[in-house]
Amino acid sequence: MRIDGKEYRTIWFDNKSQLVKIIDQTKLPHQFKIKDLKTVKDAINAIKTMEVRGAPLIGGTAAYGVVLAVKENNNLDFIKKSSEDLIKSRPTAINLKWAVDRMMKKLSGINSDEILNMALNEAKDICNEDEKFCENIGLNGLKIIEEIYKKKKDTVNILTHCNAGWLATINWGTATSPIYQAHKKGIPIHVWVDETRPRNQGANLTSYELNEEEISNTIIADNTGGFLMQRGEVDICIVGTDRTLSTGDVCNKIGTYLKALAAHDNNIPFYVALPSSTIDWDIKNFKDIPIEERNPEELSHIEGLDENDNLKKILIYPKKSKALNLAFDVTPAKFVTGLITEKGICEASMDELQKMFRK
Ligand code: MRU
Repeated sequence: MRIDGKEYRTIWFDNKSQLVKIIDQTKLPHQFKIKDLKTVKDAINAIKTMEVRGAPLIGGTAAYGVVLAVKENNNLDFIKKSSEDLIKSRPTAINLKWAVDRMMKKLSGINSDEILNMALNEAKDICNEDEKFCENIGLNGLKIIEEIYKKKKDTVNILTHCNAGWLATINWGTATSPIYQAHKKGIPIHVWVDETRPRNQGANLTSYELNEEEISNTIIADNTGGFLMQRGEVDICIVGTDRTLSTGDVCNKIGTYLKALAAHDNNIPFYVALPSSTIDWDIKNFKDIPIEERNPEELSHIEGLDENDNLKKILIYPKKSKALNLAFDVTPAKFVTGLITEKGICEASMDELQKMFRK
């Protein structure tokens, strides 16, 4: 997708420098900076500090993290320890473990002459595949938006939470991919962008990328969506996910569950867009999903531009107050209208997911 009219992916391997390049998302929307990842530690740090974030992009970065480990030292013990450290860098998005496991499977039994090339090709394949899957998610989700537009014959209002846009994947995004496809087809679209406290991925990233693609959008406080639904100003919700269980339960950015409840109460379709790499086939009970608890400072402090356009971080809570920063919640399958995947749209249920992916 585009930034200042130039096409980018969120992560790539630069042949000239032999380094991995990322867009540093902690600086967006105020500064656009490309950063080098030179070592596996850099990749781990980029995931932990959320220079890269979003389930599919975390997976892609972890895959390149394994490449960087191999480049540093192709001793198998070092690569294995590095892969374990990568998996521990963030707990909730299943794409992380999925990508590292896929890399390690590919590299097992490969001799030291070939291993770097093998690793690099596999990381590239993981990223290319994600891009293709996200594009297909868009084409599949487009049909739902087209249906709404056919009936309504007016601008389709879509509500989304967090950033499940191209910045969260390699390209296209998951929740935003149908939006980009609909826009390309000339369907009038307007997006309600949940601010998404505490890190404001909606305001900082989703609104930013929609602006760059010239798609009409309005940022709303996280608690506004329900009221807009009651007023008939939301036609459909589309969100992403960090881990969807084979039962159809959907783990995503904190606050997603409340949007699904409001959508249910107002009879508004609530769709979740995901590539199959986000499905967890093992855990059956949503209470077993590891939910990340992040630094309370993300709540108590806020960063933005001061009057001189300098980035500044300030405290907004009483100094003595405690804060709890749970990063994700789970929306039970019964509140999900459907899952938009690279293979098509299915019900959020074990039967339907099995039929679509495990024939
Ligand atoms: O904490 P983040 O910014 O990594 O959380 C991102 C989300 O919750 C996204 O909705 C999810 O990863 C899906 S991305 C296509």
